[in-house]
Amino acid sequence: MTTKKILVSGVKPTGRPHIGNYFGAMKQFVDLQGEYDTRIFVANLHTLTGLQDAKEMKRNSIDVVLDYLGIGLDPEKVTLYFQSDIPHVTELAWIFECLTTMPYLMRAHAFKDAEAKNKDINVGTFNYPMLMAADILVHDADVVPVGKDQKQHIEIARDTAEKFNRTFGDTFKLPEALIIESVETVPGTDGQKMSKSYGNTIPLFATDEEIERAVMGIVTDSGSDIPQNVYAIHALIKDKASLDALYEEKKGKYKDLKEALILDLKAFIGPMRERRAEWAAKPEEAKRIVTEGGMKMRKVVHDKMKDAREKVGFIHHE
Ligand code: ADP
Ligand code: TRP
Repeated sequence: MTTKKILVSGVKPTGRPHIGNYFGAMKQFVDLQGEYDTRIFVANLHTLTGLQDAKEMKRNSIDVVLDYLGIGLDPEKVTLYFQSDIPHVTELAWIFECLTTMPYLMRAHAFKDAEAKNKDINVGTFNYPMLMAADILVHDADVVPVGKDQKQHIEIARDTAEKFNRTFGDTFKLPEALIIESVETVPGTDGQKMSKSYGNTIPLFATDEEIERAVMGIVTDSGSDIPQNVYAIHALIKDKASLDALYEEKKGKYKDLKEALILDLKAFIGPMRERRAEWAAKPEEAKRIVTEGGMKMRKVVHDKMKDAREKVGFIHHE
């Protein structure tokens, strides 16, 4: 029997995912699920840095599980779990926090961006990369598929593993980030980066009406033959040869091109939306899957945590 390499990743339960989240990060989970021992979690601890409403946290967390199942993660191949079901990660994050300096973490882009917006930033936001390092390292993950904007967080996880290994002896594996370099930042309907916070998204599980409304609302730059924002979104779901043939044939005909995009988006989103709806109709089954996933992962990370505790000099009791 060959043991598969380990893949770990997570998504924050912050609301409805959009096609930018899918093509930037989540799609890889589905593409790689057969190849790796795949462990995918709902990053609710990280979300607490910005969402402090229990009802919404619960609702969003279940929603992410349904999103995972909707995009086609197969519970037979993948372990799905809630981050909060693995208390080891917060313990390990603390250990890492004691090895990491403030000036080092102050260089993180996400911290700098958050601080530029709000000086009253919470400690959780500052320590975010330490928790993320723990999420990954506790599994001895080989690969971590993420969106481009998470690259620095993976570098921090690697640095942290090295730092621990240097201080206490070889313990953690250095993970590799898997980033789809070819996916540029997916633009939203207004041409800026597609983001939940800008209200410019095409939801991943959009209804047909939502698809129509969003696409018809895409801002086009009059004057050029090819509406760039329409093309960029279309390029995600159509192969380059047929895409270029279409945009050549319909040069300057923005309405026709938008209608073609609507058709293709409906064909792409429809089956995922239906699969998600099937899972949403049996929420108990979805909950059972994540609960069992959490129990399984707690056992799996136990030995690593035992090793880490002993390395730092804590006396481990079974
Ligand atoms: P949002 O900006 O909508 O709040 P998140 O910050 O929750 O999105 O991003 C979750 C993941 O989706 C990240 O790994 C990020 O790289 C990816 N992602 C988000 N928006 C885009 C986009 N417009 N294009 C490509 N990837 C994206
Ligand atoms: N920070 C990631 C994001 O915003 C989510 C995340 C938390 C994550 N822990 C992780 C991703 C560990 C990969 C591995 O998208």
